[in-house]
Amino acid sequence: SAGVTRGADGALRVAGVDVREIAATFGTPAYVLDEADFRARARAYRDAFTRAFAAIGTEVDVYYAGKAFLSVAVARWAHEEGLRVDTATGGELAVALRAGVPGADIGLHGNNKSDTELTRALDAGVGRIIVDSLTEIERLADAVRARGDGRPAPVMVRVTTGVHAGGHEYIATAHEDQKFGLSIAGGQAAAALLAVLARPELELRGIHSHIGSQILDPTGFTEAARKLLRLRAELATESGYLMAEVDLGGGFGIAYLPDDVPIDPVRVAGELARVVGDVCGVLGTPVPRISIEPGRAIVGPTTFTVYEIGTVKEVTVDGPPAFTRTYVSVDGGMSDNLRPALYDARYTAALASRTGSAEQVQCRVVGKHCESGDIVVHDVFLPADVARGDLLAVPATGAYGRSMASNYNHVPRPPVLAVTNGTVRTLIRRETEADLHALDQG
Ligand code: LLP
Repeated sequence: SAGVTRGADGALRVAGVDVREIAATFGTPAYVLDEADFRARARAYRDAFTRAFAAIGTEVDVYYAGKAFLSVAVARWAHEEGLRVDTATGGELAVALRAGVPGADIGLHGNNKSDTELTRALDAGVGRIIVDSLTEIERLADAVRARGDGRPAPVMVRVTTGVHAGGHEYIATAHEDQKFGLSIAGGQAAAALLAVLARPELELRGIHSHIGSQILDPTGFTEAARKLLRLRAELATESGYLMAEVDLGGGFGIAYLPDDVPIDPVRVAGELARVVGDVCGVLGTPVPRISIEPGRAIVGPTTFTVYEIGTVKEVTVDGPPAFTRTYVSVDGGMSDNLRPALYDARYTAALASRTGSAEQVQCRVVGKHCESGDIVVHDVFLPADVARGDLLAVPATGAYGRSMASNYNHVPRPPVLAVTNGTVRTLIRRETEADLHALDQG
């Protein structure tokens, strides 16, 4: 991340703090988050989109997608930087509220929201509920009616555009054959919009699409925008109702490996604003208010995981071709970063406690779990003298690391530590064995 440097003695420093000091005080593994970097990325997205869309006469709401990583502090930081907060469950909603984010600045998603979740959203006055099925539209309208306070719920309809973008199949969401959204091509999207309009308990704010995650090319976003704007114009023609907003979702890709080129918010915002302006011109509809929901791009690069190396061993594969690989085992693994096992995601690693020898060896970094797919980094060159007791840093673990962590093999989840101006504080404390035993009723 931006704030990480190597000190004169060869150890990594983040925002002025030596990683050895962090490990000595808080133990390993640990997620180490650079607060200034988080805030800078939040501002970069807000500023890029605000400026680009101001040029076509409209405003943008940037929602931080809390699923990437949510804690009370980061929800507050995002809000302080002018972002709203996007939540996917009642649990995430509760964190955003506990952080003091006003309900009006929160959105609630989910393809299978419970009655309790819908009620919590109404109680909190969330700014928008993104509905995902015809039955949810009726359930939500009924819930509003039952409350009897006469306040319609602000609603967006999640649609699938057929635009397929991003990484692994499991994280691409806008192709038709998956659980999210209502299909434009199949007519379910139009039916849902009419169903919302038919219920006075609901206020139709707009349409939403999320086309996938870890997207590195702006084209998918512009293609989706065209389809959304067309749908909006069709509804206006058909029903006379012009939706105020269009939400383009998240999915902005980041660099995981040294040669990766992340999506540039200024470029994608510029291209999107140009397309939105052009398409609305052609359709003869006013430009809508726009929103986006970046998660990974805000928090992913701000965090690295620091591990301690335990076992180093040579593994000789008999071939063909025969080769030897160095397996470096660390004190965490798939319980703190599921992404390599789940998506075949690639990361890199660096010796963090010292520089190490100039000679490098090809290594595979693996975890401590009882599973051979427990890989942290598939392939990385590390100093040949890498040894037990060294610290290893794996960058770009801020998104979907802690948020998808598990207790596999009864391993307590690592803490999230924030470094700010030379001081470290705990955002989420390390889980203890006692925490896990407390759940087990014997
Ligand atoms: N908005 C909606 C409606 C979403 O479904 C998502 C992610 C986002 C925003 C944020 O996407 P981001 O900007 O972070 O890419 N666990 C997977 C990613 C799943 C993303 C699900 N939805 C991973 O580790 O890659």
